[in-house]
Amino acid sequence: MSSLNDAKRRAAYKAVDENITSESKIIGIGSGSTVVYVIERILQRGNLVNKECIFVPTSFQSRLLIIEGGLNLGDIDQYSKIDVTIDGADEVDENLNAIKGGGACHLREKVVAEAAKKFVIVADYSKKSSTLGEKWKQGVPIEVIPFAYMLVIPSLKRLGCENPVLRMAKSKAGPVISDNGNLIIDAYFGLIKKPKELLEKIKLLTGVVEVGLFVNMTKMAYFGNEDGSVDIKK
Ligand code: 5RP
Repeated sequence: MSSLNDAKRRAAYKAVDENITSESKIIGIGSGSTVVYVIERILQRGNLVNKECIFVPTSFQSRLLIIEGGLNLGDIDQYSKIDVTIDGADEVDENLNAIKGGGACHLREKVVAEAAKKFVIVADYSKKSSTLGEKWKQGVPIEVIPFAYMLVIPSLKRLGCENPVLRMAKSKAGPVISDNGNLIIDAYFGLIKKPKELLEKIKLLTGVVEVGLFVNMTKMAYFGNEDGSVDIKK
C-alpha cells in the first residue's frame, strides 16, 4: 500500500516526465507539498530539462524551491506566456474543476495557471471527488483585502455559507497573511454542483480579490493511487 506522500511523488514525477521536455521554455511552478516532488523530478532529470528554461513561481515557497534548486527564476511580468504550469490542488472533481488555496496561494496560482498554455494538476488519491465539497471540508479559500473582511463574511452567509471562517495562523496569534498582504476566509458551501456560478457570485463581492475555485482551467490531472499506479484524467 502506497502512502499519501508516495502517491504525491508518483503523480508529480509522471506529470513532469510527460509535460516538461527539452522544448519547454517557460514553466509555472505551483505551491504545496506535492509541488516539492515536481521540483525534485525536474532536478533529477538534469539534462532532459532545457538549461535555458525559466521557472515562474506562484508563492514564496515555490520561489525558494526554484532558487534552492539552482533553477532560473523568472517573474510573471517578464514571462507572461508560460508553456506549462504544474500545481497541486485540495480537491478535483470529475470535470477537473478544483478547489485550491489550502496554502493561501491561490491568487498567484490562478494568474500563473491562466498564463499557461497547459495547466496540469498533480495530487494524491484523497483529492479526487465527483463533486467539489465532497472531500475538502475546510471550505473554499477566498482572498480578501484586510479592510473588507468584516463586510465579506456576512455576504458569504447570504450566498449560502453557514459559517465563513477567517483563517488564523497555527499559533492563533493572528490571521494568516497571504503573499499579497491579504487575509483568507474559508467558506464551506456543501456540495458545489455549479462551481462556475458560485465562483462568479463570490468574485463579485466587494473586497474579494480571488476565489480558490479553478473552473474550466485544468487540461490534465495526475492522481497518485494507493496501489502505486497513477491515473491521468483529461
Ligand atoms: C496552495 C495550494 C496547494 O496546491 C494545495 O493546497 C495542495 O497542497 P498539497 O500538495 O500540499 O496537498 O493550492 O495554495
